[in-house]
Amino acid sequence: MSTNQDYVKIFDTTLRDGEQSPGISLNAQEKLEIARQLERLGVDIIEAGFAVSSPGEIKGIGLVAEHVRSCTIASLNRTQQGDIDASWEALKNAESPRFHVFIATSDLHMEHKLRMTPEQVLEQTRDAVTYARTKVSDVEFSCEDATRSRPEFMAEVVRAALAAGATTINIPDTVGYTTPEEYKEILETLYANVPELHEATLSVHTHNDLGLATANSLAGVQAGARQVEVAINGIGERAGNSALEEIVMALRTRNAFYGFQTGIETTEIARASRLVSRLSGYPVQPNKAIVGKNAFAHEAGIHQDGVLKNRRTYEIMDAESIGLEHNELVLGKHSGRAALQAAYADMGYAIEGDELKRAFAKFKEIADRKKTVSALDLEAIIDDQSRDTAERWILEGLALRTSTGETSHAEVKVREGDQVHTATGEGDGPIDAAFIALNAIVKTAGELREFNVNAVTGGNDALGDVRVVLEHDGRRYTGQSVAPDITEAAAQAFLRAAALVAAGNPNPMVRETI
Ligand code: KIV
Ligand code: ZN
Repeated sequence: MSTNQDYVKIFDTTLRDGEQSPGISLNAQEKLEIARQLERLGVDIIEAGFAVSSPGEIKGIGLVAEHVRSCTIASLNRTQQGDIDASWEALKNAESPRFHVFIATSDLHMEHKLRMTPEQVLEQTRDAVTYARTKVSDVEFSCEDATRSRPEFMAEVVRAALAAGATTINIPDTVGYTTPEEYKEILETLYANVPELHEATLSVHTHNDLGLATANSLAGVQAGARQVEVAINGIGERAGNSALEEIVMALRTRNAFYGFQTGIETTEIARASRLVSRLSGYPVQPNKAIVGKNAFAHEAGIHQDGVLKNRRTYEIMDAESIGLEHNELVLGKHSGRAALQAAYADMGYAIEGDELKRAFAKFKEIADRKKTVSALDLEAIIDDQSRDTAERWILEGLALRTSTGETSHAEVKVREGDQVHTATGEGDGPIDAAFIALNAIVKTAGELREFNVNAVTGGNDALGDVRVVLEHDGRRYTGQSVAPDITEAAAQAFLRAAALVAAGNPNPMVRETI
């Protein structure tokens, strides 16, 4: 039985700090898809974005707030009224809204970035938290660059934030600079300087620049933090944030050592990881802790022998505990719409109406070309569909002619609203030819920088999952798509990246303002 004191809240920032990773751009529908999975996972708080950064961001956060009712939904703010008003606009219909207000407290940031005196920072903290509290009762305050801030000044700012009504105080290691021992000391000193902090929730937020994010967050929990800020697959600014799966599985696997609980349904971790990877376009490194494809693989004969005799010789966690072994075959080409809906319901997706109609059409198309359709395929179909809704260009036809040693030819048909465009292209291989033909329609002038193909499952008829990165004016734009034929997936992924180039928006976050 857990008590308040041994419960650690999981604050997920995949949709905010995670989305600040270069090249990640999620539309409102994609944000909602990830937020729904975070809800299934059981996170306590979802930081859905930074409302003031764009109207699209307000829409995305609003959609999450409207549909995800069992988590607290947070939006980030600088200490400015306009930011807080934008967050209110996004969160006014949330069941449990939170405003997250931050300002830098290190001398370096105050002098060179904010160009503000410590007194001004203190005043803005007071004013912003007071204003935020006029709108919602749940206000988190963060001292940006806390681990390089003077302890006495940071204590003063935290005191002011608490007096103005902040209910959670977050002490971020913004640049991934601290170490576990030092972080613990910083937090213990803060508690000693600000005893009233015991009445609020202390939160930790760490970055992985030195590969210490998870170790630092765990040290923070040992120092008294009861909220950890994390992102799925550890995505986030630069080297990323502390990874949700690492914190949760460390607390669970080493429960006898740490003695803390979270509310996370760990069997949803693998699916959350695949979804975020697919929608963000960020592949998971094979040896990534917990969710890498080798995390439960044993290569050396001596290890295989040991595992066959007793799994515990080389495995400290079960693959089942993160949901890796629940992907048996579910459907075949004779399965009907009701069977598809039931299979999705089993997987935790409630789909109906138009969404079901589109999923069924895609399922039929795939089932005709692929003997069996597994849960992983169904998951890929539904993830892919979440990107379809606001699609600017849709591939309607692709014909390729290619032969070894000869120039390849492509003929493409692309729908844009009511119009259908056609074009041809010649290139060095079928993908090059297809991209040249598509470029004649979309006119991106973007340069192809990355092209990755992954198989969703094993087997010759596996769905292809393709990621395309285009560069235009020094900025990178990522598109991804899934289809039975990798050339079709590549073409649609190209069109998705091109749509972002055309909108001039690789990332809805206005990065300069942070
Ligand atoms: O790393 C950081 O300091 C942040 C804050 C905005 C919380 O992301
Ligand atoms: Zn951060």
